[in-house]
Amino acid sequence: MDQVKKRSDDFKNKIIYQIYPLSFCDSNNDGYGDIQGIISKLDYLKDLGVQIIWLSPIYKSPMFDNGYDISDYYSINPIFGTMEDFDCLINEAKKRDIRIVMDLVINHTSDQHYFFQDALKDKNSKYRDYYYFRNAGKRKYPNNWNSAFTGPAWEKVPNEDGMFYLHLYTKQQPDLNFHNEEVIKEVENVMKFYLDKGVYGFRCDVINQIYKTSLKNGKFRILNRGGEHYINQEGTHKVLRRFYDDLLSKYDTFLVGETSNLTTDEANKYIRNHELDTMFEFEHAMCDGVKWFPIIKKKFKMKNLLKPIYLWQNKVDWVSVYLENHDQRRSVTRFGDTKKYHKESAKALAVLLFLLKGSTYVYQGQEIGMTDYTDNTMEEMDDCATKYALQTAKKLFFFIPKRKLFKILNSMYNRDHARSPMQWDCSVNAGFNQGAKPWLKVNKNYMNGITVEQEKDDPNSILKFYKKLVSLKTNSEIIKKGDIKVIFLSNKYTEFERCLDDKKICVLINLTKKKVKYPIANINKEKILISSVETYDDKYLLPYQAIVYEV
Ligand code: NOJ
Repeated sequence: MDQVKKRSDDFKNKIIYQIYPLSFCDSNNDGYGDIQGIISKLDYLKDLGVQIIWLSPIYKSPMFDNGYDISDYYSINPIFGTMEDFDCLINEAKKRDIRIVMDLVINHTSDQHYFFQDALKDKNSKYRDYYYFRNAGKRKYPNNWNSAFTGPAWEKVPNEDGMFYLHLYTKQQPDLNFHNEEVIKEVENVMKFYLDKGVYGFRCDVINQIYKTSLKNGKFRILNRGGEHYINQEGTHKVLRRFYDDLLSKYDTFLVGETSNLTTDEANKYIRNHELDTMFEFEHAMCDGVKWFPIIKKKFKMKNLLKPIYLWQNKVDWVSVYLENHDQRRSVTRFGDTKKYHKESAKALAVLLFLLKGSTYVYQGQEIGMTDYTDNTMEEMDDCATKYALQTAKKLFFFIPKRKLFKILNSMYNRDHARSPMQWDCSVNAGFNQGAKPWLKVNKNYMNGITVEQEKDDPNSILKFYKKLVSLKTNSEIIKKGDIKVIFLSNKYTEFERCLDDKKICVLINLTKKKVKYPIANINKEKILISSVETYDDKYLLPYQAIVYEV
């Protein structure tokens, strides 16, 4: 490996807050969140202790996949505002010592991007080779790959006999061809444009799939068929290293990769070769789904959640720790309790999130214990992945009425569940806007007090607890730098230590509704740094009790 200049690792140990712009704050009351709305909440984020904001895509887009289908990388989607608004966001954030990380979606563009439009119009266009256009010959499709959202990964090109284009996601998201030098340059120009504006880094969408080594048929699998030809390919390593050599090594920046299907060795390869600085691990996020098709749910077990997390903690150089994002269900709904132990379980999960080693990611609303919004109807469904899945399900189970299929699907999977508008206060639409119909319904439980306003005034709130954890982490070298040692893991509780030199912090977490036998009497109560439950029982960890103490 060449000797390279080491970039600053300032991104490490930061508190990173993910904003899903559509749902954060709608300043102009048109039903969609926007950049001015984000600016109006910067003081709130500062007060929470946020140091970096990761913005889900705000570029120009037909919004088929809510911005993960970009039609112009150099413009801001008018529903979010203008480039001036975005510049203002960077400046206002900077004044508060907050840095902005953008979502970089380069595996595919929107089918509305002029690259693709031109390629469709003119077979001799240079943009034709920016994508994968292939003739199926005598076959039904050029190969047997499927889209991540179910169904074939190929779409027929209109008015061209037997011609198809590749899309690993929806047909509105054609895949870019990273064998083409020009494509690499286009992406570098986009990154440079935003880095020069003062953007701090990028969250790289499905980044370990960008390079397709060959277009041969894949082995039979239900999900990611063809994956052996495009997941973690040597070509992807080369492209990412090019980005570093050509551009990123010259900036104080960082890249966090969205990387499913990754072993810990592969993760370290990306990090050690300066291709990515850190990445999201996926196995824990699928811990309550069946292996061959995670949409189908199985009972949540703490061991299934923590085993992959602990593995990555111990094996990967720098991990990005998260329990929620815009693609996953809300963690308190999945791993905690939304009824009797709502507060306790949200806090216990927060202890896990903050006490693990790595950069900490909080998804908007997680800090007030927002829950899944599941009351939506088939007509209200927005998520393109659920629409695709419903179409596929209808083909397979044609004898079941569509509405019933939706109900079943919606009870297991629908990315809309975690995308409902942010709950600010108890006014109309939870203060998301001034009353215009929001693009997705607001969760009614804002009327029961799950709002920022309510949480701000309650000394025992989840929000206050998050603030305590932020300050605990930012002020503790052990939490920031210490090694992690797992002492115990069962489906009832876990115990781990964080150690630095001769100092040690111990973490105990019960993620169940039942009390669990544990000799709490042996813990010196003076040494307790934080606990998700105010009371102690000498012999038991109480339901959803998480205790952090110095040893
Ligand atoms: C991952 C993103 O998080 C998700 O929202 C999107 O649908 C796919 N990548 C495709 O871009």
